[in-house]
Amino acid sequence: MGIEFSVREFDISDKPRVMNLAERLAHVLVNGIYENAMRERCRFMTEFEKTILVEDSSYLTYVAVHDDDIIGFVSGYISQSDFFASAIYVKEEYRGQGIFSALRNEAICYARSKGLKNYVSKIFKTNKLAICAETKAGSNIMGTEEDMLLLSYPL
Ligand SMILES: CC(C)(COP(=O)(O)OP(=O)(O)OC[C@H]1O[C@@H](n2cnc3c(N)ncnc32)[C@H](O)[C@@H]1OP(=O)(O)O)[C@@H](O)C(=O)NCCC(=O)NCCS
Repeated sequence: MGIEFSVREFDISDKPRVMNLAERLAHVLVNGIYENAMRERCRFMTEFEKTILVEDSSYLTYVAVHDDDIIGFVSGYISQSDFFASAIYVKEEYRGQGIFSALRNEAICYARSKGLKNYVSKIFKTNKLAICAETKAGSNIMGTEEDMLLLSYPL
């Protein structure tokens, strides 16, 4: 049986814990892909920090909470008429229990409420797990951009 968790909007007091998860995500994303992994990790973190601090309804982050612990997040923004999911991470020990799906659903509800057309994501071609999760959830592969796949889910 899966664990009990809830999904809610990011609050500024969550920042240290979400940044900690983002560090782990950056590690997953760049290791083995970029020659200068450290530089790419720093770049990702700088951009990510800016994104979560923007007080603008076109940016949003949702967190999954279990026993007062933040165990995952999804972060994204509105780009023209689409919602672009820029970062998703679930703590390793909580994977396979529907947490990604719940976070993704919250982002989709938000995107629909804004009248957006597609839920878009870009995933490294080597990230088979994330590609599998996204396609199983209904996203279509639209093409490639360098070493990434572009996926889109019609809202
Ligand atoms: C990709 C990731 C977010 C999935 O999170 P999760 O909470 O484990 O996913 P869920 O439990 O909601 O599962 C969603 C689907 O993914 C698939 N999946 C999840 N874990 C899997 C595994 N270990 N093996 C195969 N498929 C798996 C399942 O098909 C599942 O669909 P189902 O519910 O119909 O069975 C998580 O593995 C992760 O954080 N990875 C590292 C960060 C990352 O790669 N982020 C994406 C790029 S930004």
